[in-house]
Amino acid sequence: MTVPPHLSTRARAVRSSEIRDLLRLAERPDVISLAGGLPDPSGFPLDDIRSAADAAVSESSRSLQYTSTEGDKELRELLAQRHTAATGRHTTADDVVITTGSQQGLDLLARALADPGDVALVENPTYLGALQALRAAGIDTAGIPVDADGLDIAMLASRLDMVPAPRLVYTVPTFANPTGTTLPDERRRGLARLADHHGFLVIEDAPYADLRFRGSAVAPVATYSDRVISLGTVSKTLAPGLRVGWLIGPRPVVDAVVRLKQAVDLHTSGLSQRIVVHLLARTDWFDAHVATLAARYGERCCALRSAVDARLGDRLAITDPDGGMFLWATPRPGAAPIDARELLTLAIDAGTAFVPGDAFAAESTTHLAGSMRLSFATASSEELATAAERLANAVGQLDGRSRPKMSRGPLSHVR
Ligand SMILES: Cc1ncc(COP(=O)(O)O)c(C=O)c1O
Repeated sequence: MTVPPHLSTRARAVRSSEIRDLLRLAERPDVISLAGGLPDPSGFPLDDIRSAADAAVSESSRSLQYTSTEGDKELRELLAQRHTAATGRHTTADDVVITTGSQQGLDLLARALADPGDVALVENPTYLGALQALRAAGIDTAGIPVDADGLDIAMLASRLDMVPAPRLVYTVPTFANPTGTTLPDERRRGLARLADHHGFLVIEDAPYADLRFRGSAVAPVATYSDRVISLGTVSKTLAPGLRVGWLIGPRPVVDAVVRLKQAVDLHTSGLSQRIVVHLLARTDWFDAHVATLAARYGERCCALRSAVDARLGDRLAITDPDGGMFLWATPRPGAAPIDARELLTLAIDAGTAFVPGDAFAAESTTHLAGSMRLSFATASSEELATAAERLANAVGQLDGRSRPKMSRGPLSHVR
C-alpha cells in the first residue's frame, strides 16, 4: 500500500524493519529465542504485585483519580532516597519526574534538551529506542566506539577537541544494551569531567543496573557531575507492563520535561505508580527480590556463555558481563567471517534466534555485520544450551553455503 498523502513528514520518515519481520518468525513455539530483551516472566512477583494492587485500589482517591504530571509524591520521595544513597548527592522529590517507562523519559528529554539539527553523541552500538527518540526529535546522532569497558572516553575526548561540543551524550554505562559492558569508575569520572568542561548534558540510562550477579556496584556517573540526568525503570526488576520509569536531573530540566509531558499523557498511570510505591516501600523485600532475579540471570548467563563458547569459541569472542540480560558475540579476528543477518535466517530454521549486531548501529558502518546480541534472560539454562547447539548448527550451514552479499536495509523496533 502506498503512504497516504496526509501523513506528516515525520511519520513518513519512520522506517519499517526487515529485522522485525524476521524476528516475528522467531515467535514460533519451537524457536528458543535469544533475541528479545524481555525479562523472565517467571520472575514477575505476582503475589506481591497482587497485594500491592489491592492496597492501591483501596486508596482510590490517589490511585484512580487524575494525579499530578510529575508523579506520585511518595514514589518520588522513595526514588529520591535511593538516588541520594547511590550518588551521595542530596536529592528530593522535586528532582524526580515519573515517566511512562524510561522510554518516555528518553523521548521527553530529546525534545526538551535539543533542537532539530543539534548533535547527540551515543555509544556505537547503542540502544535502538534511544536512537529512535533522538532522531524523532530531529537530533543528529553520531557514534563513539565502545570497547570491552564500554564508551571509549579517550575517543570521546579527542572528538570533543576537534568539533563543537554536542548538546548531549547518551550512555547505558551499566550492563549496556546491547553489549553488556560496564563503564569503570575512572571512565565515569572522565565522562563527568568532559561534560563539565565542554558544557554538554549526559543522559545516564540505567535500566539494568540493579541486575548485578557478580562484582560490586560502580557509582553512577551522576555521582560526579550535576550535568547528568538519570533514567530508571521498574521494567527489568518488577514488570515492564507497569510502565513506570523515572528521570532525575537538574530542576530546569525536570520543569521542562513536566511541561512537555502534560501534553503527552497528563501523567503516568496513578494505579501503576501506587502499586510500585507499595512494592518499593518494602525495601528489604525489594532488595531480596532483585537479588534473587539477578542470581537467576547470572546462572543463565553462565549457561549460555559456556554453551556458545564450547561450540563456537573458535569463531566468536563472547563478552563476560557482571549483570544485565545480554551477551555480545563478535567474530574472532582471523576466523571465517559471519554475516549475522544471513545467519539469523538459518538460525530461525534451526530453532533459535538472536539480534544481528548492526541493528544497534548508531551510524552506517560495516564493523558490526558479524556481531550478535544474545539474551539469556527469558529461556531456562537447559533451553539456552539447546539454543547454543542450534546456533552452532546454523553456523555450520552458513559455512556450507556460498554467500552472496546481502543488502543492508534500515533497522528499527528491536528492544
Ligand atoms: C537501554 C534501555 N533503555 C530504556 C529502555 C526502555 O525501558 P522501559 O520499559 O522503562 O520504557 C530499554 C528497554 O529495553 C533499554 O534497554
